[in-house]
Amino acid sequence: MIYRTGFTLFILLLLTSNTVFAASPRIDYLLYCSGCHRPTGEGYPPNVPTLHDELGKMLSVQQMRSYLVRVPGSNNAPIDDEALAGVLNWILQEFNADTLPDGFQKLSTEEVGAARPNLLADPNKYRETYWKAYDF
Ligand code: HEC
Repeated sequence: MIYRTGFTLFILLLLTSNTVFAASPRIDYLLYCSGCHRPTGEGYPPNVPTLHDELGKMLSVQQMRSYLVRVPGSNNAPIDDEALAGVLNWILQEFNADTLPDGFQKLSTEEVGAARPNLLADPNKYRETYWKAYDF
């Protein structure tokens, strides 16, 4: 009986530990992005851009999807492609829900993986070329 209770508890622990300890996009954001972009995503303009509203607008331009992955802060985060896709999709839904283009498709792990090797050496230049300069 004691053995079975212990076993049941062990199984319960196994089942719940994943949900309790697995990192969520929000936690990844807080751990790896919020130090610069602030927990609420407003950043410190003009040095660190806000993550609110403009990212959604940018996504009307195809080249700006990979931009989100290729900016150094995103690109260098010590998380795998799936987790990075999760954080970026979370940012888009949490801070840009009102500005996303119609028919917006979430970033996939494969898309993030394909863009990630191409770190942007000059993110502002790329942004200016395909979107527009920072205008705070
Ligand atoms: C060390 C500070 C720092 C960290 C940490 C950081 N960023 Fe950034 N982020 C910046 C700066 C500065 C820019 C402006 C472009 C540049 O100079 O890299 C930027 C730009 C961006 C942009 C483009 C915004 C725009 O309007 O063009 C996105 C998207 C972004 N960061 C996402 C993230 C994500 C996601 C994380 C966490 C995984 C993160 N950043 C972590 C500093 C940081």
